[in-house]
Amino acid sequence: MLVLGIESSCDETAAAVVSDGTSLLSNVVASQIDVHSKFGGVVPEIASRKHIEVIIQVIEQALDDAGVTLDDIDGIAGTRGPGLIGSLLVGLSVAKSIAFMKDIPFVGVNHVEGHVAAIFLTEEKPEFPFVALVVSGGHTNIYLVADSGSFRTLGQTRDDAAGEAFDKGAKMLGLGYPGGIVIDRLSKGGNPAFVKFPRSMKGSIDFSFSGLKTSLLYYIKKRETPVTEDELPHIVASYQDAIVDVLVDKTLKAAEEYSLSRVVIAGGVAANSRLRDIFHERAGGKGIEVFIPPPVLCTDNAAMIAVVGDNLLKRGERGSFDLNAISRWPLDFPGEI
Ligand code: KG4
Ligand code: ZN
Repeated sequence: MLVLGIESSCDETAAAVVSDGTSLLSNVVASQIDVHSKFGGVVPEIASRKHIEVIIQVIEQALDDAGVTLDDIDGIAGTRGPGLIGSLLVGLSVAKSIAFMKDIPFVGVNHVEGHVAAIFLTEEKPEFPFVALVVSGGHTNIYLVADSGSFRTLGQTRDDAAGEAFDKGAKMLGLGYPGGIVIDRLSKGGNPAFVKFPRSMKGSIDFSFSGLKTSLLYYIKKRETPVTEDELPHIVASYQDAIVDVLVDKTLKAAEEYSLSRVVIAGGVAANSRLRDIFHERAGGKGIEVFIPPPVLCTDNAAMIAVVGDNLLKRGERGSFDLNAISRWPLDFPGEI
């Protein structure tokens, strides 16, 4: 079965063709980063307009790259939520229009479930049940995933998401937006023990990153001289380690608490090279297997949406043409909220 996935929940317009929910035929992502970076973050109104401008081209490119036409597509999967409502509506409306025009089934997909499902496009697929850590610009959640579509929240952030902690920290240091990838790159060769940043909520599997952010702010403000170029790699490496440390610690703690021997790491922050290394390093000693998609499938994409779509369509689910986009959609409540 060939599924066309369409994703537009934030600032990436994406389309992908996936065969049988496991084999990636094409994966096109048009990023709006250049447009939003001068504002230091995503501007929702601009994001929706940009989606409208490029979405048809992106879909045509995905079909072309896969060597297929719309006539070969068996079903359409569009992101329904969570995300920016104006942005979601663009992708969802196009998804429904194509399904209507070609008289093929369509389903609305949860973006966060998509992030986790990206792992099924890789060679090493985890068996259920497993613990999933979803770390992105908007989410930091630990789930117990009992089966496909069956999620139970074990832990979550009380304030900022991990991606936000990266982005806001980078902004304070004048490193631009989005900061996660810049910090990842700059911290290579830096000493993570250079600054002692706090690790919050020890002992719990919930997260809090606001204290860390404030701690960086004070570190910068209390100095008598500005941060030098030589110090910067050490400071960002220390800041990055404070985030990575708690993400790894709490996820492995959740796996041990629930006696699960597999963890899946998903979402944009899972592209972070230090996070990937430390997860593998620490899990090994505990006999826990770690599954992380390649970076291109960690950040927003439509292939992950097609994987969930394939599964829902095979189970007979059909989205109606009046299905609406929803900005909040917790995974513990897969139906209507
Ligand atoms: O999943 P994603 O692409 O979009 C959302 O659903 O939010 O995640 C975006 C987040 C941003 O905060 C970005 O800074 C972060 O993922 N990110 C990274 C890296 N690449 C993207 N954070 C740390 N290291 C990276 N290499
Ligand atoms: Zn995402």
